Amino acid sequence: MAQLQLDPTERFLRAARGEPVDRAPVWLMRQAGRYLAEYRAVRDGLSFLDFCRDVEKSVEVSLQPLELVGSEAVIVFSDIFVPVPGMGVELDFAPGPVVADPIRSAAQVDRLVVPDLRESVPYVFEILRTLRAELEGLRIPLLGFAGAPFTLAAYLVEGRGSRDFAQLRRMMREAPDILRALLAKLTELVVAHLEAQVEAGAQAVQLFDTWAGLLTPSEYREWVLPAHREIAAKLPRAQAPLILYVKGSSHLLDLTLESGADVVSVDWRVDLADAARRAAGRVSLQGNLDPGLLFAPPELIAERVGEIKAAGRAARGHILNLGHGVLPGTPVEGVRAFTQAARSAAGDAP
Ligand code: CP3
Repeated sequence: MAQLQLDPTERFLRAARGEPVDRAPVWLMRQAGRYLAEYRAVRDGLSFLDFCRDVEKSVEVSLQPLELVGSEAVIVFSDIFVPVPGMGVELDFAPGPVVADPIRSAAQVDRLVVPDLRESVPYVFEILRTLRAELEGLRIPLLGFAGAPFTLAAYLVEGRGSRDFAQLRRMMREAPDILRALLAKLTELVVAHLEAQVEAGAQAVQLFDTWAGLLTPSEYREWVLPAHREIAAKLPRAQAPLILYVKGSSHLLDLTLESGADVVSVDWRVDLADAARRAAGRVSLQGNLDPGLLFAPPELIAERVGEIKAAGRAARGHILNLGHGVLPGTPVEGVRAFTQAARSAAGDAP
């Protein structure tokens, strides 16, 4: 295995599919963003949504993590809420998404449309096509993404970010039909969005279900798993593998492994060796350094990365990443220490 010579795209796709690789590839969730002075310089003065619509600037910040922090994959710069205004929802970023008129009634859900994304957000696909042309020669893989229906619904119902999304959970109990109808429309949106991203050049796609970890296993089985399975079944996964991320999901791990995704991205509270055992060769794993550890000295980061790599070897395939996105204020040196340790031989197969 050690003599395999893989370029970064082959390494990434093989790890995602559970084929032999020389070592685990590395990238970071939320790798472009506020922790980079270079990101803030390009963003300067623009509203977040205008920034996402600016093809040249979005291409530039998508590429920044390659050189600045040594990532081995590029995720398109956008946001999970970029396709949502096209459904007829008025929203803004402050800095997280804020919905003008939170969705609480059946009439509001009925009025939502699933737009033709190539018309409502053409810039997303232009950014992807431009990135793919830039990355082809470097053989760096390009990732697309979407927010999962439950997480999108969480913000749409609550109106903004929240610690416990009480309104959403109340809707689960008191108006389940409204929530079901909302999730169905969002599932349609997500499938269309990810399909169009693959067509525009994304070589893998990640589904972010940040808030599904709020649920009990039986609630998750009812409200979340069916959408994941539908999305996995409808996407062209032979062309672009699907990665699923659910934050705070150690109590849901067995259910995330049943999603139909090719890769399950686990947060830092999950024991990676245990996850590998439970995955039992069915899916690859991604993760799972505590993003808070990037504030630690480089030696400590390297030590922990070595442990994660060793644990990841028991999985069908392993993609090194954090257990959640890079935190604002993270020192760039910590991020570099992470990718450097990932690229070094420590923890690799002998
Ligand atoms: O990973 C990347 O670098 C690609 C771009 C990306 C962004 N958001 C850019 C962004 C991705 C993959 C996301 C996903 C996202 N957005 C999620 C799921 C993943 C997660 O982190 O849990 C969620 C829940 C959102 C919604 C969202 N957008 C929030 C809560 C916020 C504000 C706080 C924050 O996390 O920064 C945003 C704004 C946002 N999206 C910024 C960026 C770089 C910050 C904008 C700025 O002020 O410059």
